[in-house]
Amino acid sequence: MFSAYSPIGVMDAGLGGYTVVRELQKLLPHEEILYLGEGVYQPYGNRGEAEILFLTRQCLDFLQSRGVKIVAVACNTISTLIEHYRPFYDFEIISIVEAGADDVVAAKLSEVGVLSTVFTAKTGQYARLITARSPQTRVYAQGCPWLARIIEDGDFDQKRIDTELINTLGKLAAEHPGLDSLVLGCTHFPLVANNIKKLFPQFTQLINPAASQARMVKEHLERTHLLNMNGSGSLRICTTSDVEVYRRMAAFVGLERIESVSLVPAPKPYKQ
Ligand code: DGL
Repeated sequence: MFSAYSPIGVMDAGLGGYTVVRELQKLLPHEEILYLGEGVYQPYGNRGEAEILFLTRQCLDFLQSRGVKIVAVACNTISTLIEHYRPFYDFEIISIVEAGADDVVAAKLSEVGVLSTVFTAKTGQYARLITARSPQTRVYAQGCPWLARIIEDGDFDQKRIDTELINTLGKLAAEHPGLDSLVLGCTHFPLVANNIKKLFPQFTQLINPAASQARMVKEHLERTHLLNMNGSGSLRICTTSDVEVYRRMAAFVGLERIESVSLVPAPKPYKQ
């Protein structure tokens, strides 16, 4: 039903998922990638579960209408709810939170911080997935209300980024003085890893789950004989918000073989 020549779908609430596309392009250079960055309702991480699901279903429907063979949800916030929408689609959906939890378990850490959106922190999903396989690991979640939004603006306002980090990661660091490992539990955050290193050098191990998620995509495609070994590896970017910002940021992140950056309709708003 799916073909090896169908694209890989990647979606995020915003452009943070570019950090996953970067890893997919390294690992699977012949795969065509269709990226959907839903920027209109961003940050999803400050919204409620019902609204996030309502918006997510429309994003997945869009990717389905474009014939994707698999979807990488390159958004931690949306990945925490994966069991709520996985059953509705025929294609495999890969969670970045499961990838991040795998990384922590593999690193055999006794304690780890998870810096994420407020919603991801509230769900406790990282802690659940990690301690199910590594019960001795202590997981400390810290939500950041505005960091993903500030990064999404694309102007890297250093003062705003640092202030948000001090207000959030600063709290986690003060509460757990010996903590040295941190999951970047929002796909936007690897883009400010240098700010984190500068302000909080005690975090000597920053875990970015993007590479693991890309590996999970590859393994699934191998298992299901859907790997594209000789495609052009082109990237089509669709955004519901600002085409110019998405184009500029794609170049900044180092994405390659960009065929198009286009504006697509935003999801319908959620009404209670
Ligand atoms: N990039 C998303 C994540 O990984 C956050 C974006 C948002 O909150 O809208 O959680």
